Formats: sequence, C-alpha cells, structure tokens
Amino acid sequence: MFASKLGEQLGLPMASVAVIDVSDWLIQHTPELRIELSGYTVPCSSGLQFGSRYVIDPIEGQVFDYLPETMVSRIKNIEDFARMLVLDKWAGNHDGRQAVFFRSPRARMYRAAFIDHGYCFNSHEWTFSDLALLGVYYRNYVYHDVTSWDSFEPALSRAERMTWFELWHCADEIPRAWYGGDTHGLRRLIETLYERRSNIRTLIEDFRHSSRNPFPNWGLTNSRRRTGHQATGQANTTTNSAPAVEPLCLFAKPDTSKSSDSAVRTNVSSISRAAFPVTLSCKA
Ligand SMILES: Nc1ncnc2c1ncn2[C@@H]1O[C@H](COP(=O)(O)OP(=O)(O)O)[C@@H](O)[C@H]1O
Ligand SMILES: [Mg+2]
Repeated sequence: MFASKLGEQLGLPMASVAVIDVSDWLIQHTPELRIELSGYTVPCSSGLQFGSRYVIDPIEGQVFDYLPETMVSRIKNIEDFARMLVLDKWAGNHDGRQAVFFRSPRARMYRAAFIDHGYCFNSHEWTFSDLALLGVYYRNYVYHDVTSWDSFEPALSRAERMTWFELWHCADEIPRAWYGGDTHGLRRLIETLYERRSNIRTLIEDFRHSSRNPFPNWGLTNSRRRTGHQATGQANTTTNSAPAVEPLCLFAKPDTSKSSDSAVRTNVSSISRAAFPVTLSCKA
C-alpha cells in the first residue's frame, strides 16, 4: 500500500489501491473468499483488507500478465518501466517487477500498470539489500529505449525532491494494525527512504552496469530502434471473467494460524457492490 502511494506520487501507472472493510457476512456468503490449501479451505479474514482495483472492467477489457516481446510496439507506455525502476530501486523491491497489460476491446494498443509491490522494503522486514538485479523486470525489452537519465523522468526528480511531509502522507492511510502499531519502525522506514533519495541514481547505475546489460542504447540520441516487433504473439489471458460493479481484487489473510502470514489474493471481481456491502474506507 505504501509503495503504491509512493508510485502515485511519482506519476507512475499503479493499479489503484484502497483499504476496504470486509464484513463477516460477505465472507460467509462468498464461496470465492476461501483459500484452498492442501485438503482443506480457510475463510478469508474480515476487517480492513487491501483492495486493488481491476485495471479495466473485466467485462469489456482484457488483462494479461505477460506479453511476448513481439508485441512490444503495442505497449503504449513501455517507457514507464524505466520510470518504475526509480521506485523499485528506491524502495528496495526484493522481488521481480510485476506488471499487467490491458486494453479495451476495440483498442489496438495495450497499457501497462504496475501491481504487487509486496516485497518493497523487503516485505515486513523493512530492510534494503540493494542487489543490482532485484526489483527489475524479468525481460530487457522493456528497457530498450532507455538512453539517458532523461528516460527516468519525471519520476526520478520527483523522488529526489520528495519531502518528509509527502513521504508521511503516503503512509497515513495504512491501518496501524497492519504494521503492529510500530510507529517507531515506520518512522525509521520513512527516514531511511528520505536518506535513500540521493542513492537512487547509484542503484540504477549498478543495474545498468550489471551482467544483464539492460540499457544497450545508453548514450544514443535516437532511441526508437525496435525492429520486427509485429503483433504475432498470442498473449496468455489471465483475467476476463464475469464482471462486477467496480471490480476489485481483494487481498485478505486466511483466518487461521495454520497458514502462512503472507497475504493471499482472492478474485472477487464477480461480486457486485450493490449486492455486497464492501466499504471503501480510505479517503482517495
Ligand atoms: N489491480 C489488478 N487488476 C487486474 N489484475 C490484477 C490486479 N491485481 C492483481 N491482478 C491479477 O492477480 C494476480 C495475482 O496478483 P498479485 O498482486 O501478483 O498477487 P500475488 O503475487 O501475491 O499472488 C496477478 O498476476 C494479476 O493477474
Ligand atoms: Mg505477484
């Protein structure tokens, strides 16, 4: 949630997130809100949960987790992957960068939106290991057009200039219970982020000089060098199910001590708000 809000401040295309209040009634009456484990199922927890708004209405649009490289010329905002590096390096994302690609039915072009920032700040550890290949997209083609520091703008300058107050503002919707009321820890995290603003370029440089050689066109002025990227590939559809009013992905913890503590996702896109009172409890 914190990373999503930081990304919004940097002008990045983040899936919109909110704290939602999930009632016991909704869980009892929604079979999808059960986590299937080996041999048994566990109901999701009620209470305040993390909601991620579907990037497009699934009745009309298509959402894909991956697009083949042959379709790169059809990703309208491919440049945002370089800008996203600013956040992933700054926030010490310990995972690979995850995105979804979506388009409305008659559109030829796809847009990318960024999801799943759960390993920023090293998940609940709130530590930073800053390895060069952490927090980056798994394929280089998304960085093909990076030619200079300008390719990371305006996100880079916005991050470097972010104020203490703005950082706190990004954290102020997070329910205290989600971080165990550890306000000292949160303060330390924000202080660390504040200090790390001046390291972002170094961290990107480390990736740039890594064995991945992710920016082969660095230093070139004309970067539009894509070749042969015709739309021949077939994407794997991931989500195109029956829709809802304002569909959401709902993240909830299973209500048991047997399961892991990490958040799990249940797709509740077929739940209509009109029928099920899911409350948006955040301001935005
Ligand atoms: N806001 C969203 N809009 C559309 N699809 C989403 C959204 N958030 C998640 N998804 C879909 O749900 C899948 C799992 O979500 P993700 O956030 O990666 O959870 P996790 O990796 O913890 O299981 C994604 O691969 C994507 O297909
Ligand atoms: Mg994921």
